[in-house]
Amino acid sequence: MAIVKALCLSLLAATSTLAVPSPPRRGRLSPVVRNGSKLLVDGKEWKAVGPNIYWLGLDENVTPPAGEPFDPSTKASYPTKERVTEAMAVVNALGGTMIRTHTLGVSTGNPLSIWPEQGVVNEEAFDIIDWAVYQAGLYGVRLLVPLVDNYDYYHGGKYNFLRWAGFNLTQAKDSNNPEIQQFYTNTAIVSVFKDYIKTLVTHRNQYNNLTYAEDPTIFAYETGNELLGPVWGDMNCPADWVQDIAAYVKGLAPGKLFFDGTYGINKTHLNIQEVDVYSDHFYPTDNGKLQAGIKAVEDAGKVYFAGEYDWVGRSGGDSLESFFQILENSPAVGGDTFWSFFGRNGPDCDTFVNHSDGFTLQYGNPNNTAYTNSRIQLIRKHFIAMSQGKNIDPKEPLPSVPCPAPSPQKYRKVQ
Ligand SMILES: *[C@@H]1O[C@H](CO)[C@@H](O)[C@H](O)[C@H]1NC(C)=O
Ligand SMILES: *[C@@H]1O[C@H](CO)[C@@H](O)[C@H](O)[C@H]1NC(C)=O
Ligand SMILES: *[C@@H]1O[C@H](CO)[C@@H](O)[C@H](O)[C@H]1NC(C)=O
Ligand SMILES: *[C@@H]1O[C@H](CO)[C@@H](O)[C@H](O)[C@H]1NC(C)=O
Ligand SMILES: *[C@@H]1O[C@H](CO)[C@@H](O)[C@H](O)[C@H]1NC(C)=O
Ligand SMILES: *[C@@H]1O[C@H](CO)[C@@H](O)[C@H](O)[C@H]1NC(C)=O
Repeated sequence: MAIVKALCLSLLAATSTLAVPSPPRRGRLSPVVRNGSKLLVDGKEWKAVGPNIYWLGLDENVTPPAGEPFDPSTKASYPTKERVTEAMAVVNALGGTMIRTHTLGVSTGNPLSIWPEQGVVNEEAFDIIDWAVYQAGLYGVRLLVPLVDNYDYYHGGKYNFLRWAGFNLTQAKDSNNPEIQQFYTNTAIVSVFKDYIKTLVTHRNQYNNLTYAEDPTIFAYETGNELLGPVWGDMNCPADWVQDIAAYVKGLAPGKLFFDGTYGINKTHLNIQEVDVYSDHFYPTDNGKLQAGIKAVEDAGKVYFAGEYDWVGRSGGDSLESFFQILENSPAVGGDTFWSFFGRNGPDCDTFVNHSDGFTLQYGNPNNTAYTNSRIQLIRKHFIAMSQGKNIDPKEPLPSVPCPAPSPQKYRKVQ
């Protein structure tokens, strides 16, 4: 998500399209592979469609009960396991196949982060991240995980690495300072960033005993979220850095796909061999920018992904229907993720969590207006068209998701 924002399949057959989401599955998911401009699972075309759910590993929107981990200065707290499991059930109900999720990868500089300080590992931070990866796997929902953020938010990003290296920089005062490029160009910082990536990717999940590198639930890593240089929109995330990080991640985790997290389609990056997917974000939806981006990526024989877009329409732009039609009709489009999903405040099933950016999608909230529900129905129709090639009635009622959502092996860790 951008500063200006102040500025997410069940593999078990559903008995009916209106049934509640299928119960969790067992066994590992098949890996996602790329062939030219297509993503494949078990030799069949696969589309990555779902919500952005940035808060799965660390949230900023709920004050937890007294005694639970909480960082008052950033309002950061770990989401409950019920909230995380419900998110997976909602992805199934929406016909989605995956989630793009910042805080399963970007977790630095906050007392509740994986790395509160450089090289210091906070094992407690992994509990909910492990749970999210484990539950996603059980629900057949794959994960796309950015590794760093362009901004200075509660969950961390490039400014943590800059400050640890002695550069006294913040987003608030330095987003246009050329020194921020040191994040990409300073060999000491790049080395520390790789150490962080190693801590993350080699971590062994307490719930399924797989390292994140081994677990096919995480189908892809992304360099980062909306990576830019000192000028807004400059796409100045150096190509050699993208290649270096992509090669490093593929070395640690050979089964994963890799996304270039540069904000926008930088044509000088399209020949990076290690990169599979190029993406762009849309505030507002912009069909011209979408079509130009798809064409450039298709011409390079790679996959295009619309990583974020304003599903509400509050920033204006082209109609969501027309934006979805382009995505559905372009063979090089690997998928898209709307910004952004929030659910019930589980275990409290009566309250929904809200976020202040105005793009909050609350699935199944009885207070949603008819307009809001029609937009959610449109998203579900689009996801089903992308993931199943089916054309459903846009007025088809949204399947209900039970609260709590089913989660059989609740809280049981590998011994
Ligand atoms: C990959 O794509 C090429 C060209 O589109 C096709 O001939 C080939 O059969 C595909 N391979 C797989 C494994 O799908
Ligand atoms: C960092 O910069 C701010 C103002 O830009 C200044 O107030 C602060 O003292 C600096 N901190 C250090 C450690 O240099
Ligand atoms: C977890 O996996 C490791 C590495 O493969 C293995 O040594 C260990 O025995 C496994 N633990 C359990 C409880 O299965
Ligand atoms: C694209 O990437 C190149 C090389 O990484 C960089 O020099 C350039 O500033 C970026 N932006 C544009 C608009 O090409
Ligand atoms: C719906 O709105 C009412 C009135 O504002 C509020 O009291 C209630 O908590 C809301 N319900 C949900 C599920 O958000
Ligand atoms: C959710 O947050 C948005 C943006 O701050 C606000 O406009 C909206 O009224 C909030 N909704 C509820 C139910 O509080």
